[in-house]
Amino acid sequence: MSVLSAHVLEEIKDLPARYPQPRSAVMPALDLAQEEIGHLTPEAMTEVAAALELDPGYVEGVATFYTLFHLDPIGKHRFYVCTNLSCMLRGAGDIVEHVKQALGVDDPRAISSDGLFSYEEVECLGACEYAPMMRLDHQYFYDLNAGRIDELIAERRSGQVATPRPSPPQRVARVTKPRAPTKKKTDG
Ligand code: FES
Repeated sequence: MSVLSAHVLEEIKDLPARYPQPRSAVMPALDLAQEEIGHLTPEAMTEVAAALELDPGYVEGVATFYTLFHLDPIGKHRFYVCTNLSCMLRGAGDIVEHVKQALGVDDPRAISSDGLFSYEEVECLGACEYAPMMRLDHQYFYDLNAGRIDELIAERRSGQVATPRPSPPQRVARVTKPRAPTKKKTDG
């Protein structure tokens, strides 16, 4: 019996036609599979490979290379907090600490006691202008602070926010906006 539903497999089969190189469909296909069952099991990766008519080893290689794919269970809502340079200079460390404290977890492998949340620190997500920022439920959230994190958690705990379906990655619009000067750490 298939681990992925028939409608998700149909969506996956339709993906290659949307790309100049059919292999490019593997990432959105894995995203759909992960969205449906929570993480990528060997069986799910095999079904993705079959639906895309790709070598299972290639699909597994993509799944294991990218940090946005998970081979073990994660929270339904996962905070991917950017801690690369621009975000770190604008407080990403404090954001990570607040997320950990608010969720009651202290490790990317841990899941909150309600089973809803987990987090991890990630490299630059290409939206440095809006630092500190993160990805959550297939959306980017910008100019974060502790209050905004609390709001996002509360919305999801109360069921106000349905998890949006993944879609093929889109470019982030680069908008220039004025910034307050950033304090630099000085040695000594
Ligand atoms: S450093 Fe965080 S988005 Fe680029």
